[in-house]
Amino acid sequence: MITYSEIKNDLNLNIDKLLEDDGIAYLTHYWQNHKNGVCKYYKSNAKNYLINEVLNKVEEPLQTYLPFKYDIPFPPVENPKFKFIDLFAGIGGIRLAYQNLGGKCVFSSEWNKFAKKTYEANFGEIPFGDITKIEAREIPDHDILLAGFPCQPFSIAGVSKKKSLGRQHGFLDKTQGTLFFDVARIIEHKKPKAFMLENVKNLVSHDKGNTFKVIKSTLKELGYSVHYKVLNGSHFVPQNRERIIITGFREDIYYDKENFHFPELPERKTVFKDVLDKKVDDKYTLSDNLWTYLQAYKEKHRKKGNGFGFGMTDLNGISRTLSARYYKDGSEILIPQKGKNPRRLTPRECARLQGFPKSFKIPVSDTQGYKQFGNSVTVPLIQAVANKVVNLLSLANE
Ligand SMILES: C[S@@+](CC[C@H](N)C(=O)[O-])C[C@H]1O[C@@H](n2cnc3c(N)ncnc32)[C@H](O)[C@@H]1O
Repeated sequence: MITYSEIKNDLNLNIDKLLEDDGIAYLTHYWQNHKNGVCKYYKSNAKNYLINEVLNKVEEPLQTYLPFKYDIPFPPVENPKFKFIDLFAGIGGIRLAYQNLGGKCVFSSEWNKFAKKTYEANFGEIPFGDITKIEAREIPDHDILLAGFPCQPFSIAGVSKKKSLGRQHGFLDKTQGTLFFDVARIIEHKKPKAFMLENVKNLVSHDKGNTFKVIKSTLKELGYSVHYKVLNGSHFVPQNRERIIITGFREDIYYDKENFHFPELPERKTVFKDVLDKKVDDKYTLSDNLWTYLQAYKEKHRKKGNGFGFGMTDLNGISRTLSARYYKDGSEILIPQKGKNPRRLTPRECARLQGFPKSFKIPVSDTQGYKQFGNSVTVPLIQAVANKVVNLLSLANE
């Protein structure tokens, strides 16, 4: 059977040059979904793309290479148990967890071209771009909607003014102009059985609690039960990483059968040194200049009586939270070294600190790699929650 890489070669598809072209997003989505009936959403655009841009004159261009063998780390699941969509997909940390449980991703969206590159290298699919430009009806039906959306304030001022216009759904007014609005409009149109949303812990206190209040009321208004909990990735990886997870289930199909509980989390089995490589390039060791600067900065704040500044990590303990700005100086997670300045983590070590498997590919620069893993999720934590969500799906069918 021909492989995915061979087809890309054969068709002269230079992925690096096509990352911002939705034509290739249609084609890769079509290929991923050719067996499950979802491909109808993508067929026409994928076909046009293939015919006009790639093949010119072939009878059944879309079928020409199907089925093929995906020679990538995380190929689509054969005989999937459920379908899901991956919004604000980043590098697919949430997708990985749900795919591990037998789910088939039928739509993905992410607008950052470097994140798309990592996504394609691992999943063989290029996410569609800006979600605000995508009509909900263009998105295939699915059982679960997944989104780690950016946290933005809702403008309270806009609400009362627009409310007077007597719109049918309050949420349209309350959330317009934010990315949560896009999550809500897709839920409203596609009515998935369940959703799982992920965000920073501060979502609850953001904008004096208004942001979270609007999110909860919107989801309820759309006809879903809403559950949420702050969970720490430190139960699975040696990193302190608290995130809020929100789940919800369609009330009209679950009625009183829904009994969702967040999972009991296990005791962590690893310590920080377990994610470290034995031999690491000297380029990850801090320069004398940077190290002097970081020490002076910390000292300045110590004198003022606060604890700002670098974090030297206890090798037998856990690290601080890996953030998307780790690429700047690495100061939040430093590693002590004997006889040398401390060093920062490598992108591969960041992947481990987030619980990504070793087969996960990192096809981007160190800077992009740090941003991507800092923005991503602790995969095993998401999978523990996913397990509970997926278990409930069967109840909806009874
Ligand atoms: C917190 S990250 C989610 C990371 C993801 N959960 C993962 O595992 O990698 C949010 C992502 O949303 C993307 N994003 C922001 N606005 C977007 C938009 N309008 N359309 C598509 N993606 C967007 C960002 O580029 C970023 O990668």
